[in-house]
Amino acid sequence: MKKVRLDKFLADLGVGSRKDAKKLIKQKRVQVNSEVVSSPSIHINPETDVVYLDDQPLEYKEYYYYMFNKPQGYITATSDETMPTVMDFFQDKPKVRELFPVGRLDIDTEGLLIITNDGQLAHRLSHPKWQIEKEYYTVVKGDLSGKDFSKYEKEGLKLKDYKTKPFKLQVLSTSPDKSEIKITLTEGKYHIVKRIMETLGHPVVYLKRTRIGNLTLDENLSTGDHRELTPEEVKNLKKLVNLEKFDNNSFSG
Ligand code: URA
Repeated sequence: MKKVRLDKFLADLGVGSRKDAKKLIKQKRVQVNSEVVSSPSIHINPETDVVYLDDQPLEYKEYYYYMFNKPQGYITATSDETMPTVMDFFQDKPKVRELFPVGRLDIDTEGLLIITNDGQLAHRLSHPKWQIEKEYYTVVKGDLSGKDFSKYEKEGLKLKDYKTKPFKLQVLSTSPDKSEIKITLTEGKYHIVKRIMETLGHPVVYLKRTRIGNLTLDENLSTGDHRELTPEEVKNLKKLVNLEKFDNNSFSG
């Protein structure tokens, strides 16, 4: 791993801005291995040097992975001039400027979003080649009793300008005015669930993503909350897209 400037290293770990990091160094609160340092411009090796702040060792990781339960009202982007974005929830995180959401949920969609700075994993999880399953819970208008959606598992569905890949639609409950559905797709096209349900004559009134591949939204995570993925969860996602041999976070210190 490349050496990094100490003030950048500290800022990357979320202790504050680079200016804040310089201040901490000046106050003699930062130690590298056995020495208190006085220069913010020294270079350290994150793999072999141990950096302490106020006598506590700082853990350096190159890659970060979060599970986020997206609320409505936030756009899935890293920044926007006018709208709040999902990244508003991650501003105090290490390497915040490198973090980004994997794939996209509409502004009015809730649920599972992965936030990471691992470009390779993100790219593969979103690439059509890997056909990663995405599962949604949705409430739609209308009565679905007696309807059979099994043919879409083989054929997909012809939309106005696009033929979908096969998908699975399971009715969880139904009533004269609305129904609950679980829908599982292997593609991430724009507004895909809404367009499918609109075409079937049952417009979406609520949409929440509950699963991406082998990663299920944690039921303990309230809307708007996030947590780091466990090493096991990261490993399982990597396995899904043939990246398990590149375990980027195998060290700490
Ligand atoms: N399909 C949609 O229509 N919207 C989403 O946010 C995700 C899938």
